[in-house]
Amino acid sequence: MRHWIGIAAMLLLMCALAATSHAQPHKVIFDTDFGLPPTDDGWALALALGSPELEILGVTTVAGNFSVERATAEVLKMLELSSREELPVYQGADMPLVHAPSDFARGEYGEWYSGDPPPMPAGGFASKSAESISAMDFMVRTVLDAPGEVTLVAIGPLTNVAMAIRQHPRFASSVKQLVIMGGAIAQLPDGHGNVTPNAEFNFWVDPEAARSVLRAGIPTMLSPLNVSRKTGLTRQWYEAIVARDTPITRLARERLGPRYAANPGRSDLMYDQVAVASLIDPTLVTTQEMFVDVDALHGINYGVSVGGDEPWPGAEGAPRVQVQYDLDWDRFIRMFVERVSR
Ligand code: BDR
Ligand code: CA
Repeated sequence: MRHWIGIAAMLLLMCALAATSHAQPHKVIFDTDFGLPPTDDGWALALALGSPELEILGVTTVAGNFSVERATAEVLKMLELSSREELPVYQGADMPLVHAPSDFARGEYGEWYSGDPPPMPAGGFASKSAESISAMDFMVRTVLDAPGEVTLVAIGPLTNVAMAIRQHPRFASSVKQLVIMGGAIAQLPDGHGNVTPNAEFNFWVDPEAARSVLRAGIPTMLSPLNVSRKTGLTRQWYEAIVARDTPITRLARERLGPRYAANPGRSDLMYDQVAVASLIDPTLVTTQEMFVDVDALHGINYGVSVGGDEPWPGAEGAPRVQVQYDLDWDRFIRMFVERVSR
């Protein structure tokens, strides 16, 4: 009898331990080409800040949607508005590894090449500054201090991550997981590009970085345009967000309100928000394992991601990654609205 009580007590303890370890938040480095909401990176950070499943260790900035200086200024402002100034911010790369600005780039969306000083965010610059070490140094130090524990959420061009991989030979093998918003997979539905016919913005801004990061052997979850195209932030959901009054929803009201008033049928795709949500709750997305590679040759497919069920000539070394292609929209948008307006 005593024997069975002992076994039962041990089983209970094991269940309790399993439940506790399951409840441990993901330790996250949040790498972003940030802009305040309603930019998708801004919404994605609002979602992360409102999610107890994530423990943000630091926010790192990279040139992409805007210059890296502007990204840093706006992250600092976001954290101040959210009363989360304790989170450190590290500035990263101000240019892609190789890609040089061109007339085409300047005519497209995104200001990664801009040398202009950052405009003052609404309400003024934050009183806190970025930390003195670089985004790449922070990534390497943090990951090597806790091998196998840190997840990188990368929702801008992959320049910082590629540089961190180059910086230390054990960095890539010490990252727990990489969640990337990037790419568009023509092999799956809705897989056309958004900058060139087949290239997605984050991968196109820094194709060499995207290629080397994918090939680094880190377990990777890819959130490409295919899954972003299952979303649409319409007026109904905007109104649900701004129904609560917080500094972030006020900002959204100021900036988005006039746009919905001018165009009530407006619907915005949600990119980076899906990547973050998929880490919080992986059951929100449907994935397929594929070999994925990025074209970094300077031709018509520069920056294009290609996914295949089998390896193919020229893509030797392409890794297998989890590719998101569908989403439980209803559960996702309800979680998003509730958490960004907390
Ligand atoms: C990606 O490009 C950026 O403009 C967005 O923030 C998102 O990360 C979508 O192609
Ligand atoms: Ca982004």
